[in-house]
Amino acid sequence: MKTIAVIGCGRIARDAHFPALDEIDVRIKYACDLIVEKAQAMKEAHPKIENVITDYKIALNDPEVDAVFVLTPNYAHYTVTMDALRAGKHVMCEKPITVNYALSCEMKKEADKQGKILNIGVCNRYQKSVEMLHDMVAEGKFGNLYHVYASFRRFRSIPGLGGAFTTKEQSGGGVLIDWGVHFLDLILYILGAPKLLDVTCDAYCEMAKDMKDYKYTYMWAEDTADIENGTNDVDDFITGYVRTDKASISFNGAWAQNIGVDEMYIDFLGDKMGARLNYCGQFTYWDAKTLESHTTDHDNPNFYKAEDEAFLESIGTGVKNRNNIDNILESAKLLDLLYQSAAKRTELKC
Ligand SMILES: NC(=O)c1ccc[n+]([C@@H]2O[C@H](COP(=O)([O-])OP(=O)(O)OC[C@H]3O[C@@H](n4cnc5c(N)ncnc54)[C@H](O)[C@@H]3O)[C@@H](O)[C@H]2O)c1
Repeated sequence: MKTIAVIGCGRIARDAHFPALDEIDVRIKYACDLIVEKAQAMKEAHPKIENVITDYKIALNDPEVDAVFVLTPNYAHYTVTMDALRAGKHVMCEKPITVNYALSCEMKKEADKQGKILNIGVCNRYQKSVEMLHDMVAEGKFGNLYHVYASFRRFRSIPGLGGAFTTKEQSGGGVLIDWGVHFLDLILYILGAPKLLDVTCDAYCEMAKDMKDYKYTYMWAEDTADIENGTNDVDDFITGYVRTDKASISFNGAWAQNIGVDEMYIDFLGDKMGARLNYCGQFTYWDAKTLESHTTDHDNPNFYKAEDEAFLESIGTGVKNRNNIDNILESAKLLDLLYQSAAKRTELKC
């Protein structure tokens, strides 16, 4: 059985990873958070956690620890992951890899140098619907799959306004790096790792210019919000276009918009078939010959559990799996190029 430490005991730890790890044969020697009460609360809810610590270096210096889960905010992914790799630990780091592509490449280099597995939490790669679409595309069911459109738009949300989520220096960006990271990663995965050719993008920070006056229907990470003195300099709306050597890709994303509907889906347009993947759900596909539509009705296993299990298996076998950083770096490059294109207001070659 592998021994792990979990660093960062916030929402994703509480709602996704600790419940998943409860169902996996793994020893959790440490739960670590700078705020001791958060780690303590996790220990109370999950008795298999053995120790609560606030300094993650204690876990890194423990030879019994095989791997660490880095579940901190984006700004800490790089430092904690690099320290862990240098201490000889395997790492499962939440998405996005970190705040930009250059630092992401350094993380990959360090994992290679240390000969350790570094996986990234793009959990949707373990969704049943995604696996099915991935296989349908690989089998050529779509014919010429010429375009993919993604919509990740919600009515007025925005996480932790004024805090780390909306401060570019700490998060790397807004809705594109927070939600778009999943959508674009899924598209590249389902298309079968296309070569990126050129990108163009526009980013907007429009909805909460006056933070104190911002009205919202939903805000998560409210404990990190700072509407009095904080910063909001990230994209709340993003739109872009990507050419690849396979399908072209277009997308619109909004943490917040003055349209009172939530639209979270990806459309795959082929000449023989089209499909709409409802985010985190089932998908519908249309056959060009019969004009009939079919909506899937499969069980959706817990994809956090699947990614955690796959990571632990990967550190056992040494075989890199679909969430290995080697397979995620291209989407980090894409996010970076899109942000650069938006900043320069011009199309960029990849
Ligand atoms: N895969 C997904 O679908 C998904 C969903 C939500 C969040 N996330 C990612 O998970 C990460 C965490 O998000 P969250 O919403 O849980 O944030 P959060 O703010 O709720 O939790 C982060 C925790 O990390 C702790 N922390 C920060 N620096 C630390 C350090 N050096 N040592 C120990 N603890 C430290 C904080 O005190 C906090 O409790 C983010 O990168 C986010 O993008 C992924």
